[in-house]
Amino acid sequence: EHSRQIAQTLSEFRLTTEQLLEVKKRMRIEIENGLSKSTQDTATVKMLPTFVQSTPDGSEHGDFLALDLGGTNFRVLLVKIRSGKRRTVEMHNKIYAIPLEVMQGTGEELFDHIVQCISDFLDYMGMKNTRLPLGFTFSFPCRQTSLDAGILVTWTKGFKATDCEGEDVVGLLRDAIKRREEFDLDVVAVVNDTVGTMMTCAYEEPTCEIGLIAGTGSNACYMEEMRNVEMIEGDEGRMCVNMEWGAFGDNGCLDDIRTEYDRAVDDFSLNPGKQRYEKMCSGMYLGEIVRNILIDMTKRGFLFRGQISETLKTRGIFETKFLSQIESLLSVAIMIMAFIVIQVCGAVSHRAAQMCGAGMAAVVDKIRENRGLDHLNITVGVDGTLYKLHPHFSGIMHQTVNELAPKCNVNFLLSEDGSGKGAALITAVGCRLRQELN
Ligand code: BG6
Ligand code: GLC
Repeated sequence: EHSRQIAQTLSEFRLTTEQLLEVKKRMRIEIENGLSKSTQDTATVKMLPTFVQSTPDGSEHGDFLALDLGGTNFRVLLVKIRSGKRRTVEMHNKIYAIPLEVMQGTGEELFDHIVQCISDFLDYMGMKNTRLPLGFTFSFPCRQTSLDAGILVTWTKGFKATDCEGEDVVGLLRDAIKRREEFDLDVVAVVNDTVGTMMTCAYEEPTCEIGLIAGTGSNACYMEEMRNVEMIEGDEGRMCVNMEWGAFGDNGCLDDIRTEYDRAVDDFSLNPGKQRYEKMCSGMYLGEIVRNILIDMTKRGFLFRGQISETLKTRGIFETKFLSQIESLLSVAIMIMAFIVIQVCGAVSHRAAQMCGAGMAAVVDKIRENRGLDHLNITVGVDGTLYKLHPHFSGIMHQTVNELAPKCNVNFLLSEDGSGKGAALITAVGCRLRQELN
């Protein structure tokens, strides 16, 4: 009887092809809403223009600093790009911690901390006296008015520093550099991690015109036709659009698929009501969904002899890396009731991969239609701990895309160099354009 009830609870997480096609269709509607002038103010999927108008062509060169803020690790990088017959990219980087009290303190503290880390890095590289151009990978929704200006729309994931929303984050960074009075930098570009990842992969593989992150957060970007990007003047060529698809569902359009566990995770998060799709498919939240299911099953007497331990009551105790580990390790099979726990993890990560795949299917079909093609060959540059570490996520996601977008041949390319390299490539182009204008 218990096993029937467990199966029934988990069946809510098994989405049928019809449901997934419906998710794809709704994503497509939200994409159109985000792109059109008349609906974009209220659109949930914001489709933010990035001012990146081409993928790399191999002519990019120079030495650049890059910051990479918003994923598992905060990094400062030095990227040396050489063009010509033997293209090479040399990278040096250092990872720095961002303490929780800095992530959720004041904006000034956050940006002072970032500049402190840059200072340490420049010392470490012996480069304090050079004024390098910098690309800032800032993995949050930003409304850009140019390559080097981006107003933070809202914090997502675990960040909540005060006085940043509504501000230009490049300005905040420049102010912090000035406050320190120690070195100077030329901030050339602000870049979303999806865009950095797409550019990193496109440097090796020119058919890469989509970027996907399945990590702490979930998001995608792609090269959209300028004629469809209505908030930007001009109809020629393409521009990369940061979809911010994590907010898909914030208008209630996924409510028939969300479960009571999804609602619980959302209610107790830092940003209730926001990033509902992200909360179903990204690393920061999957462990929380699992924990909520386990508590419910325990209460109903299916698990742990009905005893809810103090540990299980702790929010955040179930990190997504455990899902990866539990599903990877055979030895846990000896754990009492591990089977049920594995089933729960499996159901939650399976749905996450399917949801992510349904979103991607909408994107590739949109690109195919943009180009008036019966068949599209395209590469998606991907990064993120969930994609890289989980044993089944990537496979299920790929399979879902194939099933839901049969007219597209979608190739997934893992970014080996993170998004910092892509940010440096964008910075190189930004520097060149600026010289051409002067
Ligand atoms: C990294 C990128 O490789 O992937 C980051 O350089 C990005 O910018 C990250 O945010 C996403 O993965 P995660 O799992 O660390 O959030
Ligand atoms: C969140 C951010 C988005 C980022 C994604 C992946 O959804 O809002 O900008 O790309 O996480 O890191």
